[in-house]
Amino acid sequence: MRSDPTPRSRPAWLADAILYQIYPQSFADSDGDGIGDLNGITERLGHLSWLGVNTIWINPCFASPFRDAGYDVSDYLSIAPRYGTADDLARLVETARHHGIRVLLDLVAGHTSDEHPWFTASANDPSDHRYIWADTDEPPRGFVPSPGGRNGAYLPNFFPTQPALNFGYARMAPSEPWRQPVDADGPRANRAALREIMDHWLRLGIAGFRVDMASSLVKDDPGFRETSLLWKELRAWLDRAHPDAVLLSEWGDPAVSVPAGFHGDFFLHFGGDGDGLALRSLWNNHGGIDMEHWKAVDCFFDAEGKGSPRPFVQAWLEAMETIGDAGHIALPTSNHDFSRLGCGPRTPEELPAAFALLLTWPTLPAIYYGDEIGMRYVPGLPDKEGSVIGFAGPDYNRAGSRTPMQWDSGPNAGFSTAPADRLYLPIDPDPSRPTVEGQRADPGSLLNLVRRLIALRASSPELGAGAEVRILHDGFPFTYVRGDRYLVVINPRRRAAAFKPARKPGRGAIGTGRLVEGRGVTLTGDGVEAEGFSYAIVDLDG
Ligand code: NOJ
Repeated sequence: MRSDPTPRSRPAWLADAILYQIYPQSFADSDGDGIGDLNGITERLGHLSWLGVNTIWINPCFASPFRDAGYDVSDYLSIAPRYGTADDLARLVETARHHGIRVLLDLVAGHTSDEHPWFTASANDPSDHRYIWADTDEPPRGFVPSPGGRNGAYLPNFFPTQPALNFGYARMAPSEPWRQPVDADGPRANRAALREIMDHWLRLGIAGFRVDMASSLVKDDPGFRETSLLWKELRAWLDRAHPDAVLLSEWGDPAVSVPAGFHGDFFLHFGGDGDGLALRSLWNNHGGIDMEHWKAVDCFFDAEGKGSPRPFVQAWLEAMETIGDAGHIALPTSNHDFSRLGCGPRTPEELPAAFALLLTWPTLPAIYYGDEIGMRYVPGLPDKEGSVIGFAGPDYNRAGSRTPMQWDSGPNAGFSTAPADRLYLPIDPDPSRPTVEGQRADPGSLLNLVRRLIALRASSPELGAGAEVRILHDGFPFTYVRGDRYLVVINPRRRAAAFKPARKPGRGAIGTGRLVEGRGVTLTGDGVEAEGFSYAIVDLDG
């Protein structure tokens, strides 16, 4: 298709990003209809600025019939009325800028809603190739019968209501005559459309996109060769047209996605060697989600101490060897597709150590709204707008991670003035649920710890994504030094742990640093002793 357009622009701001993911329907409802909206987000930007986050990613907020909570877009260039207007988004972006916060939107690149006019036209016009149509009497396996005047069936990308946009196939197959090459008219039109959509919103002042299912575009593409060429082409355009903008992929395999043109990628519950092992081995947030379909692994943040930091460190090292300084790995606390950090048997006392790791490791920290106060995965909710992924199992319900933000102790936890039965999803019914208001007032709260850790990271280049990490001990307690200055000790299990290094960890002895942040860790002079669920960040220069 195209050649590799290196060198690429590297927006310097990304290295210092503290990402915060906002699920718009659940964050803050400004107009009392029970669903969060853009003005609600704008009203809370002061709080996010107080917390110290500098980059927000908003899940899809575009026109949609909401069969997959907005990941089924029916008009990429319009804001869904339930979220507000383009003017509201412009105001949000401008207010965020005043607070030093950049805004990323979500680009659903691989599919549209079956209510998108492109699809309704395609379903009635056999000469249209924006989607993948098999003109056969019987739908081939995985295809969905045409809902329109056109014969045959279309290929979905996720749910049947999400027809795959046609970006072509990497190879042809005589038994599948519907396959088209990547340079056919339909794929070319779709690539041009992605560019137009990005350009439209970037001109409004947003800082880039999280790209949904970024690896899914070209079909039957061994090694993602053609999909990578597609993204490289878009990246080359972006570098010219919007050099300060970034693309973060939902790919789950930075060693592939960053060379393909993304500025960064997330470690996810899938992707990469070991199918999501990097993240699942760290905090396998299974909680209320059907574990049979989400391979259970012993994770490091497990009270019984079953796991180890090694699989995470190994996966991180391997990915970094490939990507070097060409891009970043974002490490999420959780997201809208899997259980929150606070889920299953994990208790609030286990969360501070997780944030200590998140904010001192050389990845980009990505906080899912509410995790910073320890909101939990709420089990037992009904299917909401496709939250249950039926093909993954009846218990794979994402709704438990999508409940309204808990702002205060007022009605509906301050999320909305609507009657409780009109809320997008119910508030966590737990009477002792955490709130922003309660935790802001408590210096010992998780929220205040997260705020201090963010401030420490922001003011310490040694803790940044680009600074060196030297691992002293990859067991319990996990012990490492950042930038030859900060000693970090993490013991996420209930049982105490101790470690004595064979030699000193750098400048200053292990016993002579200044405790900057921590709980339950003692420097003994020649080593560290860590109580259960403890963590410490020690300034060895201090
Ligand atoms: C990944 C998104 O994160 C998820 O919420 C969505 O259901 C699928 N992609 C389909 O777009």
